[in-house]
Amino acid sequence: MALVTTQKMFADAYAGGYAIGAFNVNNMEIIQGIVQAAKALNAPLILQVSKGARAYANHTYLVKLVEAAIEVTGLPIALHLDHGPDFATCKSCIDGGFSSVMIDGSHLPYEENVAETKKVVAYAHDHGVVVEGELGQLAGVEDDVNVAAADASYTKPEQVQDFVTRTGVDSLAIAIGTSHGAFKFKPGQNPQLRFDILAEVAQRLPGYPIVLHGASSVPQEFVAQINQYGGAMDDAIGIPEEMLREAAKMAVCKINIDSDLRLAMTAALRKYLAENPGHFDPRQYLTPARSAIQAMVEHKITTVLGCAGKA
Ligand code: G3H
Ligand code: 13P
Ligand code: ZN
Repeated sequence: MALVTTQKMFADAYAGGYAIGAFNVNNMEIIQGIVQAAKALNAPLILQVSKGARAYANHTYLVKLVEAAIEVTGLPIALHLDHGPDFATCKSCIDGGFSSVMIDGSHLPYEENVAETKKVVAYAHDHGVVVEGELGQLAGVEDDVNVAAADASYTKPEQVQDFVTRTGVDSLAIAIGTSHGAFKFKPGQNPQLRFDILAEVAQRLPGYPIVLHGASSVPQEFVAQINQYGGAMDDAIGIPEEMLREAAKMAVCKINIDSDLRLAMTAALRKYLAENPGHFDPRQYLTPARSAIQAMVEHKITTVLGCAGKA
């Protein structure tokens, strides 16, 4: 099987009231952990690569690793550019074998976002690739862009129909209160998502797939484990999983998760190295790290996404 686009995945997810997990990948062990979980639960999968991941691991290495994952598992897997910053980066991923790209023009004035997204859509569709756009701005850190909570803004439902119609974009990321990174809320704050905005967007775009970024739930046991074994993480608070499950039953068809994988991997590594101070073989300490990623993804597939058995 070759890479697939997200078209059928999203149509099935919308109709079935579940979402597809889009997990960020940076190296072989992360890819293997995610893919082993999807295989064990027969789940469709999106593996996504940021600008930073391409700079770290090299585009070709990542594409070949994902091709290997498809060959080994036979799963429907889409390879997606996460937060494409401009047309050139999107074009490079389209030319370089990705099946899906995001053009993130959310920081641009509306008309510039429309123009840039439209340009990417024209090129992508000519090459059989699907495109995710974004309206509204999340708080948090992604690549080298740090958006302060005060500068974040919810998606305006009255813009979505115009944006989707004029750009031809295949899915739309919206801002309803999620944010990037592990520090989404302050201690004592009550995590809330704007389900009213999601419902209004869904009503204005019937049957259309919506994407949620910044959807890590930051399980406290991993933060505690990191701190127990020499880490020094501040209070980290994520999105409650039951809220994400609720969103997946609505129009949300793609849920982006990166920070939770980082936490699971770091917690496992710290524990292993602290308990085995004499070990220095990477295969020894990367084995529990990879297993921790697999366990995390299996948990997301069953508890948050609801896509087990849907491959
Ligand atoms: O939203 C951003 C993703 O978590 C990717 O993070 O840009 O550090 O690779 P990164
Ligand atoms: P988290 O930082 O919440 O995992 O979000 C990841 C993301 O949105 C990637 O695009
Ligand atoms: Zn994101």
